Amino acid sequence: MNAIRLGLAGFGTVGSGLAKILAMNADRIEARLGRSIEIRSVLVRDLQKKRAFDPGPAATFTDDPAALVNDPDVDIVVELMGGLDTARRLILDAFKAGKHVVTANKHLLAEHGLELFEAASASGVGLMFEASCAGGIPVVQTLKESLAGDRITNLLGIMNGTANYILSEMTTKGMDFASALKAAQELGYAEADPTFDIEGLDTAHKLCVLIRMAYGVDYPLSEIPVQGITSVTPMDIEFAREFGYRIKLLAHVVEKDGRLEAGVHPALVPYTYLLARVGGNYNAVRLEGNAVGPIMLHGQGAGDLPTGSAVLADIMNLGRRLGSCEAPDNTGFGNRPLGRADIVPPEQSKSSYYLRFTVADRTGVMAAITRSMADHGISIAQAVQKGEAGAEGIPLVMISHETRAKDMEAMIAEVNAMDFAVKPCVQFRIL
Ligand code: NAP
Ligand code: HSE
Repeated sequence: MNAIRLGLAGFGTVGSGLAKILAMNADRIEARLGRSIEIRSVLVRDLQKKRAFDPGPAATFTDDPAALVNDPDVDIVVELMGGLDTARRLILDAFKAGKHVVTANKHLLAEHGLELFEAASASGVGLMFEASCAGGIPVVQTLKESLAGDRITNLLGIMNGTANYILSEMTTKGMDFASALKAAQELGYAEADPTFDIEGLDTAHKLCVLIRMAYGVDYPLSEIPVQGITSVTPMDIEFAREFGYRIKLLAHVVEKDGRLEAGVHPALVPYTYLLARVGGNYNAVRLEGNAVGPIMLHGQGAGDLPTGSAVLADIMNLGRRLGSCEAPDNTGFGNRPLGRADIVPPEQSKSSYYLRFTVADRTGVMAAITRSMADHGISIAQAVQKGEAGAEGIPLVMISHETRAKDMEAMIAEVNAMDFAVKPCVQFRIL
């Protein structure tokens, strides 16, 4: 039989990772599909750039998106460029041309996913995106197929390889933040703009995509409270260690009486938990279904081969459908329009907190802070003051009992405004 022919938009980390796997596992792919897969056309920005890997003998390079999408020799369009505008246009044009699309672009899906689902459905073609969430971990397919009949009660995960790599390197090797980020970029884990990784936005994009798969509703990106890892210092990592925790960037969604509460935050995770042991570029997603119970998925969340593996799974899935008239179920909910989630307002969410105040070392400071906490109904579980006083102030660390986010924010604003506060209070949740 003829080969399945790919139009590959993007030949960077993931695009070249896919090409490597197609070459490395060609026999196995053909044994499963009864057909080979070849890259026919490759869209890049810079045609002069020297490529470290050859996409294969059938491939030609172009810098014209229309040429790739309208190439009659392309069966499936694979979008691995990233970004919003060009990628969105390319995918919509591919649907119009009647072509299935595979993408790893979680940013695009989070921002324009509903439009893309609708357009794919109108054209009767597939839109698959396993690689968009947690790299090589098959979490999209797990939610869409394996747990299709379960009611998902909660999902908790480490879903950004770059942030996890940075926190792991800081924790285990004492590396500084900037050097760890640079290493993650060199390893191909980071987004083109790494702000998305370190400010928690990439994790929020993935959470937005997974909520649709888990609950069949849209939880708008703008409604997800997001806190990144840029305020995590070696001092916080050390304090967390002393209290028996590791700091991880977590995404969570929980269903409470039919309403959803979601968020992305750095959190102190008890070091005995499996999530605390997830290191380097690895991700982990803990799902709980009302029938299956808890499930933990663990694997590499970023990088060329792990992500390429997820892209290839989608290509093979769609490759089996080529020539079929049956429209694929892209959302896992029969392609019906996804309604808006019923959302618990973030200020009502509750958690225990780690608080690090930086204060002048003088009489009455502890009393003033504890008074403010008491006034806002916040109860203290532990408190530690350490180090030498100086112009930089002294760290005063507290662990609170469970508190409403709204009360915690009000207390922190009050204390930050007190005259002994040298720097704003740093706060992280505790799992
Ligand atoms: P990358 O290394 O920066 O590669 C991007 C590729 O797209 C490059 O080949 C670039 O061309 C091409 N490109 C970008 N904008 C273009 C445009 N406007 N027109 C034509 N070509 C364009 O990115 P990546 O890390 O492979 O990531 C690709 C996608 O996968 C992103 O959506 C990312 O979020 C997602 N993703 C990445 C990972 C990962 O581990 N890296 C994991 C999961 C998902 P040039 O080569 O000529 O510059
Ligand atoms: N930049 C992303 C990460 C790539 O570090 O997790 C995988 O989505």
